[in-house]
Amino acid sequence: VIQPEPYEVYDNLAEVYGDPFIDEAGEQLIRFSRAVVPGRLLDVGAGRGAVAKAALAAGFDVSAIDRAPAMVRMLARECPAVRPQAMSADELDFADGAFDIVVAGYVLDLLPDPGRVFGEIHRVLRGEGILAYSEPSQVTHRWLWLHEIASRYFARPDAASMQADHHRMLETLAHSAKRAGFTMLERLEYESPLLFADETSAWRFLQKEGGLARATRELPPSARSAFAAEVMSGLLHMTRGGAGITVDRGVTLFRAIRL
Ligand SMILES: C[S@@+](CC[C@H](N)C(=O)[O-])C[C@H]1O[C@@H](n2cnc3c(N)ncnc32)[C@H](O)[C@@H]1O
Repeated sequence: VIQPEPYEVYDNLAEVYGDPFIDEAGEQLIRFSRAVVPGRLLDVGAGRGAVAKAALAAGFDVSAIDRAPAMVRMLARECPAVRPQAMSADELDFADGAFDIVVAGYVLDLLPDPGRVFGEIHRVLRGEGILAYSEPSQVTHRWLWLHEIASRYFARPDAASMQADHHRMLETLAHSAKRAGFTMLERLEYESPLLFADETSAWRFLQKEGGLARATRELPPSARSAFAAEVMSGLLHMTRGGAGITVDRGVTLFRAIRL
């Protein structure tokens, strides 16, 4: 089986990519970077521009690159001011020291050779330039049950090994950043929980934003209703006690400096 490259997956998703929390995470990444306006900012793996648009609104001089042509086309249509270009993160077509700040939202963990990408980012940043990147948050405790159910219905690891993999992934990225010449400054867990009154409204949200609907369609019809019933009963357990259901949405933010 030939695995598609990460950008090919996103090229096909360009039309539907994004949600309000992804935009919020982009705004938080810019705020967290504490970079000084006006500065020359590069958004690596910009996608539909969640980070680039926030940077533009904050007053930065923005350039955006992405390897997926469909993402670049959509971003160019929606927000030409961020100067979207089709380019790969591991071969940046910019001069040494061209930027004061580089940001990368939800992208570095997708890349086959993050060490090379950190090297390129280091090269295009000026001395004392800032790199700010985000990665998905760890699965929180109260949702482990959902991952357990999913691991029985789908070919995916159980919750404990997912947590271990996630931790290892973040460590590996930070390690590659250091090897490329960055000094890690800060890490922040940003959380934006959503509260639902009952299991039906939480289910509806998870179907839409949590990708449950897409996942469920992959199941044979016979397994579909059993899966839905298990998830509903899990949600019902969460509402016991009357406190409603908290859907955790979070992003892990990192800030490093090129000394
Ligand atoms: C999860 S999306 C994140 C998009 C955006 N940064 C955000 O926060 O919404 C990952 C993006 O990385 C892009 N990408 C994947 N491989 C890439 C590469 N080698 N170089 C540049 N971009 C790449 C994908 O096309 C996709 O748009």
